[in-house]
Amino acid sequence: HSNLSYEGSKGLVMDGTSLTDIAKQHGTPSWVISAETLRRRALALQDAFKTQNLPVHCHFAVKAQDHQACLAVLAHCGFGADVVSGGELQRALAAGMKARDIVFSGIGKTDEELELAISQQIGQINVESVEELHRLDAIARKMQRRARIAFRVNPDIDAQTHSKITTGRAEDKFGIAHDAIPALYRKTQTEMTGVELVGLAVHLGSQMVTEAPFRKGYERIASLVRTLRADGLHVSDIDCGGGLGIAYRNEQAPPPTMLASVIAETLGDLDVRLHVEPGRWLAAPAGVLLARVIDVKDAARRFVIIDAGMNELVRPAMYDSWHGILPLHTPEDLTAEEVVDVVGPICESSDIFARQRHLPPLKKGDMVALLDAGAYGTVMSSTYNSRPLAAQIMIDGDQQAVIRKRQTLDELLAQEAVPDWLPRT
Ligand code: LLP
Repeated sequence: HSNLSYEGSKGLVMDGTSLTDIAKQHGTPSWVISAETLRRRALALQDAFKTQNLPVHCHFAVKAQDHQACLAVLAHCGFGADVVSGGELQRALAAGMKARDIVFSGIGKTDEELELAISQQIGQINVESVEELHRLDAIARKMQRRARIAFRVNPDIDAQTHSKITTGRAEDKFGIAHDAIPALYRKTQTEMTGVELVGLAVHLGSQMVTEAPFRKGYERIASLVRTLRADGLHVSDIDCGGGLGIAYRNEQAPPPTMLASVIAETLGDLDVRLHVEPGRWLAAPAGVLLARVIDVKDAARRFVIIDAGMNELVRPAMYDSWHGILPLHTPEDLTAEEVVDVVGPICESSDIFARQRHLPPLKKGDMVALLDAGAYGTVMSSTYNSRPLAAQIMIDGDQQAVIRKRQTLDELLAQEAVPDWLPRT
């Protein structure tokens, strides 16, 4: 982790900021996100495409990290957004992203969400089915508009990642079967007046750390484009989706230059506008979750119980995922190790962050950082066990700000109403 280091009495430092100071000032659990890391990674990704001379438009997958401050950082780097709901669409606009730089993906877009997308004249709607196509066409005609669309192709390719985050197999709910595309494309481009069909989109899955599925997926798209063009149809845009993985542990995660060269080799000669929709690769390493050790329980195993739980970071419970854990203090003896289970306070056995992990000895009151928590962390949080949502702090060079206040229990309870016709005690 190039943005993390130990600096003597400051302990663990992220892009120049002492995480201990943040934890002491704002309490735990707290999320920290570095604008600097976000920017650095955004530029690295854009550079990879520039090096290949590829006209690639980058759309950040808002689902990975939806805070407006993060979206503003990326908008400033020239990013647009990939959104999957009306809420994300409005967030992206509120954060300063231009409507024409927004792509709307998602398997269940409601009529209201499609109306919003059409009225805002966003760049592209990725259509997931023939049913959605007809619904969208009718809505757009009623609004006397023409929606720019692409077909999301289901290429029936296994992304070689966790099955819960695989999206491109035939049995997955996403996209239109690739062999149904040519006929539907022709019908749409020649007969439908509510939509302007500009091309194809594909997204195979997330946390992909091998090259083969990307290559296979894009080859399939390229051959579809050739078929469509041979049939006299127009294809001007290809959306390559997201999915680029990171090294949470010791995975050999390929860099964006791999993605850029695969895209160049498979789609580079088609003379189309290219789009990508990365989320995790940009945001995950930019964020950490800070927590404090509540107790160390010695039982059949040694359990380090921390004050962050699966309601904050659900990834380990949901996908058995591995997140690095580092103490915030500089360990006195870097070689001393214990084998512990790091667990949260939630009353479920799945509330485990690490099993049999080798860590420097930790005691009550020590603080730790859970790493690579900048993507699919805050956005998947809940208030399970009546735990208010944690605070979020953005750091940027020597600046820092609370970008989301810690929710209070009063705020949580204020959302609820007890009907006055219920008998009260
Ligand atoms: N585009 C589409 C259409 C997607 O469905 C996704 C992610 C992305 C782009 C961004 O993928 P990324 O570059 O972040 O891999 N909650 C899970 C990940 C779910 C991903 C869903 N789709 C996790 O924590 O691992």
